[in-house]
Amino acid sequence: MDKIRIRGGRPLKGTIEISGAKNAALPLMTAALLSDETLHLHRLPDLADIATLGKLLAVHGAEIVGDGNGGMKLTVRDVADTTAPYDLVRKMRASILVLGPLVARCGRARVSLPGGCAIGTRPVDLHLKALQAMGADIELASGYVEATAPKGLHGAKITFPKISVGATENALMAASLAKGETVIENAAREPEIGDLARCLNAMGAKIEGIGTETLQIQGVDRLRAAEHETVADRIEAGTYAIAAAATGGDVELIGARLEMIGAVTQILQEAGLALEETKRGLRVHLANGRVRGVDVMTEPFPGFPTDLQAQIMALMTVCEGASMITETIFENRFMHVPELMRMGANINLHGASAMVRGVAALKGAPVMATDLRASVSLVVAGLAAEGETIVNRVYHLDRGYEKLEAKLAACGADIARVA
Ligand code: UD1
Repeated sequence: MDKIRIRGGRPLKGTIEISGAKNAALPLMTAALLSDETLHLHRLPDLADIATLGKLLAVHGAEIVGDGNGGMKLTVRDVADTTAPYDLVRKMRASILVLGPLVARCGRARVSLPGGCAIGTRPVDLHLKALQAMGADIELASGYVEATAPKGLHGAKITFPKISVGATENALMAASLAKGETVIENAAREPEIGDLARCLNAMGAKIEGIGTETLQIQGVDRLRAAEHETVADRIEAGTYAIAAAATGGDVELIGARLEMIGAVTQILQEAGLALEETKRGLRVHLANGRVRGVDVMTEPFPGFPTDLQAQIMALMTVCEGASMITETIFENRFMHVPELMRMGANINLHGASAMVRGVAALKGAPVMATDLRASVSLVVAGLAAEGETIVNRVYHLDRGYEKLEAKLAACGADIARVA
């Protein structure tokens, strides 16, 4: 199995092109199920998760062709099969996003329950309640969700008791083809949801309130062909901004903007980073001297994203002072802590909070992690550390970071994939 070898201590300097967002691309691809015409998506990242979802959509009858320019054309002339099988769903939780589109278009769907994952139990109850409110009958049998709506879905008022990105996306897609008006309250406001809504509108949907916590959708009879460009990946941008800070570097993130990273801007500024918008993106460098300790709490957008919690912790391990990092979204998202400690970090865990006391330097070590963001936090730590770090289980990184080693090496990092 491949590993990533890093020899740390070199400041990152140069430019990094930010890819299309994985978390936007996945729901955008499932939106193709809503129409019998072609959805042409531009700027899709070349990632294992995108390939996995492509395989699942092919089961449902999608014809998928690359456009030779980083995009894809997806056509689901007829839905071949409304079952999303366990073998594919278990590889990626986002597979649950086929549920809303399939029920809306076909009146039925059978989707394997994704099951637990490394960062917590992650239930799908909110997805199911939203579809029930729109008239779907839901049964759970043999590990599958069976949803039926023989007469089609109808509009509904859906008030989410808790903010969920995936449930908002499933409800939004289903409501686009439901009869009548749907109002989604306490909707997630992540930029990837705005991206999905804009794509659906380009396909002929009628969605208002984009970017707010209340989405209003007038259902339409059918959706048409459309073209759409995926938003830039704010988590990838944030990861490289943090890596630049951790190495005392200076990078320009091409395609990134301040508005898309929400509260991350303020946290990074408090930590002593300078962030300046340029014509092409965002320049990030350490304003003076060392990174300062700041307290961080993860929250739904525009709050600090849970998907950057591991990376900011890696940065805080070498800060001046201390930092309290609190995870409020997932209950088990500190798997990087013991690995960072093996590299010399000083971290104490108390329930959902981690007390990080900065040390002068990390020391390279062989490490591994059990999820995507934890893995990349170890890459950040390795770039900042003295000596050699080997990050095992590279397949996690391949799920979410396009050309990771190439992008970092182009900025002067000593990083390579080894067999
Ligand atoms: C999405 C992102 C993931 C990110 C997460 C939070 C994608 C493909 N993935 O995941 O990278 O970490 O948002 O920003 O976009 N919950 C329930 N019931 C449900 C659904 C969720 O209780 O039916 C809970 C979850 O367990 C979690 C919280 O709600 O505690 C937020 O999860 P959610 O926003 O749904 O995350 P995902 O859409 O799975």
